[in-house]
Amino acid sequence: MNDVAITTAKRATDSQLRTVKRLMDYFHLPFLARQKSSITSLMKRHKLTLLFVVEAERVYLTDGEVKLFWHPNTALLKLKEDSCGPLIRALDVEPGNSVLDCTLGLGGDALLIADAVGESGCVTALESNPYIAYLTECGIGESSYRVIRNLAARISIINDDYCNYLFALAADAFDCIYFDPMFKVTNKASIGIDALRTFANRAPLSRRVIDLALAKARRRVVVKARFSSGALESLKPDYIIGERRPGRVVYGVFLKD
Ligand SMILES: C[S@@+](CC[C@H](N)C(=O)[O-])C[C@H]1O[C@@H](n2cnc3c(N)ncnc32)[C@H](O)[C@@H]1O
Repeated sequence: MNDVAITTAKRATDSQLRTVKRLMDYFHLPFLARQKSSITSLMKRHKLTLLFVVEAERVYLTDGEVKLFWHPNTALLKLKEDSCGPLIRALDVEPGNSVLDCTLGLGGDALLIADAVGESGCVTALESNPYIAYLTECGIGESSYRVIRNLAARISIINDDYCNYLFALAADAFDCIYFDPMFKVTNKASIGIDALRTFANRAPLSRRVIDLALAKARRRVVVKARFSSGALESLKPDYIIGERRPGRVVYGVFLKD
């Protein structure tokens, strides 16, 4: 991909240049010296569609408008509030279980599931966008919060499309399989901050893929959606967990026969 590159803050430190080197080696992307250029002019000059920017405190991916970076806030909030919440109830997981999270994104749900399955359990998380997978893997694995780093150690991140991965998977490979596809309608509260949406794979989830996942799960498949959006209803889950009010996040549970 030659329309993607890496740059740094205007004054690059040695540590930023080490991060650049790591990114270059990983993705085989070119490095562009930032000098005094703005991000917009650098992208225009080199006809880039995406640019990684390595700054002192973070690495972000931008399309020139939106910035995507991993931040601990959402994960910490989720871990604080949801450990007995609807996602874990829908998955019905316990210590020692194995879970396949088909839609890693920024990893908040994967961390929550890693917490629920405990040290003896494991989570495999798939992400089809290589840049999102990378940002999340570095974000959780190198977080300054020990609780996040410890949970990250239970998660194996794989850059793959869930259709490919599920197709090649053996039957009964995981206790549960989880999907959190991008919602069609953005929640009003998150308009403008939902940077993930810009870069994410937005293909809808089909009943055919759920049936494939059911064949590979030992117990159940769970799908997150917004109640009344039509997305979950058309997939015909066995039951729904969560507050049944329009726009609220709910979880559809599909049981193995
Ligand atoms: C709504 S986000 C998931 C958010 C995540 N649960 C969290 O807590 O941060 C959906 C993610 O799944 C990814 N995705 C969508 N379709 C996919 C597919 N077919 N295979 C793998 N990943 C996919 C998107 O790129 C996006 O990053």
